[in-house]
Amino acid sequence: MLFDFATIPAQARYKLLTSTITPRPIAWVVSEDEHGIINAAPFSFFNVLSSAPPIIGIGIGNREGEDGTLRPKDSRANIIATGQFVVNLVSEDTVNAMNITAIDFPTGVDELVEAGLTTLPSVHVKPPRIAESPVALECELFQRVPLGETSELVLGRILALHVRDDAVIDAQRHYVNTPMLKLLGRMHGAGWYSRTSDLFELPRIAIDQWQREK
Ligand SMILES: Cc1cc2nc3c(=O)[nH]c(=O)nc-3n(C[C@H](O)[C@H](O)[C@H](O)COP(=O)(O)O)c2cc1C
Repeated sequence: MLFDFATIPAQARYKLLTSTITPRPIAWVVSEDEHGIINAAPFSFFNVLSSAPPIIGIGIGNREGEDGTLRPKDSRANIIATGQFVVNLVSEDTVNAMNITAIDFPTGVDELVEAGLTTLPSVHVKPPRIAESPVALECELFQRVPLGETSELVLGRILALHVRDDAVIDAQRHYVNTPMLKLLGRMHGAGWYSRTSDLFELPRIAIDQWQREK
């Protein structure tokens, strides 16, 4: 079945993209406004894009204000205003709390308090990280890329990465026990997620091995 994006509306394109490009990691973004009011929200239009420099990208849309006009979601407005944010990754243990922080609270409500979460200070940026998250990336705004009228790609440079101590196998060699993190991905629809526990190994094939064995 062909779906030609020239002929279908935005909502249908959203449905097709989010039903097929799965699983998507979830950036659980903690940011602060100019007055230090903390905000947290999840975003699954997210991934790591480069390691040198270390860059992540998040697509953040608009929301409708009380007067019916569209304005950037609070996370995007805060990142633009302060240039700083923390991306926390979502695990099986924190998924319910993450879902609470996605509620459309009015601006100024601290979603972390609503979700019963606690924070730890960051080292390089002002917004704190979520203590319950097994991984947190301290980020500064690297570049903004407008995506049409309604969305924007926020590129962040990672300044530091926190991993829960018990999931670090060998700090010197930077080995992490990834399955132990129990990270989740976002799937189709508004409420489907995937675990990252159904794993298999597929070693890379060297060219000489390929030529020998094919
Ligand atoms: C798992 C999940 C992923 C989401 N991904 C995105 C996304 O990639 N982009 C986006 O604009 N909104 C996304 N949302 C919706 C925002 O989290 C929601 O609009 C939130 O209220 C925005 O909060 P803020 O205005 O405090 O930034 C997602 C929601 C959930 C539950």
